[in-house]
Amino acid sequence: MKMFNWDEKYSVEIVSIDSEHQVLFELINKLYEAMSQGKARDVISGIIEELYEYTKTHFRREEFYFKSISYTESEEHKAQHDAFVEKINHYRQLIKQGDTSFSVEVLTFLRDWLITHIQGTDKKYVPYFKKYGIR
Ligand SMILES: [Fe+2]
Repeated sequence: MKMFNWDEKYSVEIVSIDSEHQVLFELINKLYEAMSQGKARDVISGIIEELYEYTKTHFRREEFYFKSISYTESEEHKAQHDAFVEKINHYRQLIKQGDTSFSVEVLTFLRDWLITHIQGTDKKYVPYFKKYGIR
C-alpha cells in the first residue's frame, strides 16, 4: 500500500470542502505512516476520535448547504454520511472494549470510502453548489 495523496482529480472545486477533504487524506496518511513503523496501536484511538470530530464539522457543512439549496439528492447523500458515522462509532466501541487491532481494516475502509464518496457522491452536488454561489 502506498501513501494516499490528495490530487486535483479529487477536487470538488469548492475551497472549503476541498480543504476539509484534505484533512481526511492527512488522517489516512498519518495512520498509514504509523502502521509502516509498527505503531498503529499508539495512534489508532486518536485517529478514530479525530475522524469522529471531523465528520461532525464536515458532514454538517455539506448537509447545511444541501438544506439551503433544497438539494434533491440530499437523502441518499446523507445516508452515506450516516453509514460512515455508524462505522466510526463501531470502531470507538471496539476501542472502549480494548480492541485496537483493526488498523488495516480502517485504512482500507477510509480509502475506499473517500474515493467512492468524493468522486461519486460529492461531485454530484458541484454544479448545484456552484449555481448557488457556494465556494
Ligand atoms: Fe459528502
